[in-house]
Amino acid sequence: MTTLRQYLDKNRCADDLKKLIELIAQQAIPIRQAFIANQNYADTENIYGEQQAALDKWADIHIINVLRDSKLVAEIASEEQPDIVKIPEATSDYAVVMDPLDGSSLIQVNLCVGTIIGIYENGSALQKGKDLTAAMYMLYGPMTVLTLTIRKGVCIFALNEEGEYLLMEEGVKMPEGNLYGTGGLKPDWLDYHAEFIRRIENEGSKLRYSGSFVADFHQILKYGGIYCYPAVKGKEKGKLRLVFEANPLGFIAEQAGGAITDGKRNLLEVKPDTPDQKTPVYVGSRGMIDKIQEIVLEYS
Ligand code: AHG
Ligand code: MN
Ligand code: MN
Repeated sequence: MTTLRQYLDKNRCADDLKKLIELIAQQAIPIRQAFIANQNYADTENIYGEQQAALDKWADIHIINVLRDSKLVAEIASEEQPDIVKIPEATSDYAVVMDPLDGSSLIQVNLCVGTIIGIYENGSALQKGKDLTAAMYMLYGPMTVLTLTIRKGVCIFALNEEGEYLLMEEGVKMPEGNLYGTGGLKPDWLDYHAEFIRRIENEGSKLRYSGSFVADFHQILKYGGIYCYPAVKGKEKGKLRLVFEANPLGFIAEQAGGAITDGKRNLLEVKPDTPDQKTPVYVGSRGMIDKIQEIVLEYS
């Protein structure tokens, strides 16, 4: 079977990028081991006013320390940090954007959560999603799975007991499926979003929503459909963050033939102003993205 190293070699991945991807992927092992000792919520909030889970903080500090020691990364933008972390002693100019632990409300109930990563060249974390050099996520489910793109399509690896990632699927294509999930309380949905959900339900779409974007995205990647975290009354920007959550997963979607939008525009074309920028998110199969954009137009 092809290992992660062999895949990166075969695809002529630059040396430092290869080291960086492998280094981050290996952190799934200590992060998984930290679950037992970090089951509870911490008594701190992040800059979004969300209570941090102990594992949010642990994974954040752990990955930042590993990246700092590697000297491969000049800048890190993390969902759990108030500011961009600069590493002047770095010898490479990669920038990493990350959600160290996505789906953290599911830690205590042992449902699937993950780590989301985007990698840029040119030392800046505030770039458009379409300019990502690589995007990846590790999923801590029954298996530890790595989904990766280095701009050459999407592949999925699984971690074996020897700590090696083995290629399970290459050239992953997101099908036109009928699964959907949506965040936001129903009474707060805007009219166009309610209409979209009504239409796709009438056309046979089936609800699947866990509360972990990365896990919900993974099943959309495999089976097709759409994941939504919409604008809602009083929160016109929704909940999810453009830089750490929407862009890396949207880039993977696009590499697999899917798409990402805020309802009006391709999110990968949006230049972030600040690391903490929020955005409504619709990500999934091409046909679903066309449909929500048509409905938003009808209602505008
Ligand atoms: P995080 O754990 O990084 O704070 O992200 C949580 C996000 C996302 O993973 C998930 O889809 C969504 O918030 C769930 O929100 P609701 O509980 O409002 O559905
Ligand atoms: Mn998240
Ligand atoms: Mn998070």
